[in-house]
Amino acid sequence: MILTMPHMREPRQNPHVAAAGLLAWYDANRRVLPWRAMPGEMPDPYRVWLSEVMLQQTTVAAVAGYYREFTNRWPCVDALAAASLDEVRGAWAGLGYYARARNLHETAQMVAHEHGGRFPSSAAALRRLPGVGPYTAGAIAAIAFDEREAAVDANAERVIARFFAVEEPLPRSKPTLRNLAQSLVPARRAGDFAQALMDLGATVCTPKRPSCSRCPWKKNCRAFSLGIEESLPRKAPRRVRPLRRGAAFVARDRNGAILLVKRPEKGLLGGMLQPPLGPWSASFPRRSDALKQAPFRAEWRRRPGVVSHGFTHFELELEVWRAEVRARGGSTGSWLAPHALATAALPTLMRKIIAHAFDPEFAQPAR
Ligand code: ADE
Repeated sequence: MILTMPHMREPRQNPHVAAAGLLAWYDANRRVLPWRAMPGEMPDPYRVWLSEVMLQQTTVAAVAGYYREFTNRWPCVDALAAASLDEVRGAWAGLGYYARARNLHETAQMVAHEHGGRFPSSAAALRRLPGVGPYTAGAIAAIAFDEREAAVDANAERVIARFFAVEEPLPRSKPTLRNLAQSLVPARRAGDFAQALMDLGATVCTPKRPSCSRCPWKKNCRAFSLGIEESLPRKAPRRVRPLRRGAAFVARDRNGAILLVKRPEKGLLGGMLQPPLGPWSASFPRRSDALKQAPFRAEWRRRPGVVSHGFTHFELELEVWRAEVRARGGSTGSWLAPHALATAALPTLMRKIIAHAFDPEFAQPAR
């Protein structure tokens, strides 16, 4: 008896035919994206790297504005390397996953000072740069240098899982999906192939209600031929994220400046700014405990409602305490004037806290 693997290749899934079909589709349907070279144009490795790091865990729509701002301000890797880490963090604020900003700056310095301003061209050498994992290394090697590498992001995973009808759930199936994707990468135009897979996943092979009638692979796709495309890729059930709670303290002086402190370099939101926060636990602190956690004695008033924010591994709810102060009380940290807040290294959560503190909807008094 011959045992067939669930994702064994059918004759119609000949990699040359599949790659040629996808590339022809890409030539007619490619998305125009700010970081994408036009046909015939040489991609700039700096821009490819910058966009790929920004796109880790983030959507194309969220990245576009940041990408323009970064490339206007720092048009080449040497310029980014010459910036301070806090400047880079300030420009990154709002994009999330802030270790990426630190790694970005460190990589820029390594490339500028140790590689003569030129990015290494192989996926293996790119992997040695901080913040460059297997996906990003493959994407840069393929897109910027046309190395025969697959770049398997979530979109590409979905396309490949369907094309080969891989029923093993994510994340366990990741290595299988990567190998299967790699088996399709053509000897020429590896960069276009990588981007074609991403575009197909984003515009045709969508998570829900894929537009199979428009797909260049509809004749080759195993999931489509089995009628199971919408149920793939299977995913292991998500863990419930624990809930943590705490208090945030927003102090404002008579000029409207707000007290901010810097978070420790290591760990969650490392090196970013925040209003002083109390410790996080399963419940909110009682009033007397919250007042002990405050950065200094003042007329702290609790705002009604809470600020909620989702992190990868937990949910956070913070109660917001506000104080209007006459003098800048004896406390560490710096007072930022309103105009400086816009460009400060303040993550989205911290901006939500400050907005909550002053939102007229949450009128006084507190409990
Ligand atoms: N997601 C990650 N990298 C991308 C790219 N280069 N183009 C479009 N979407 C992407």
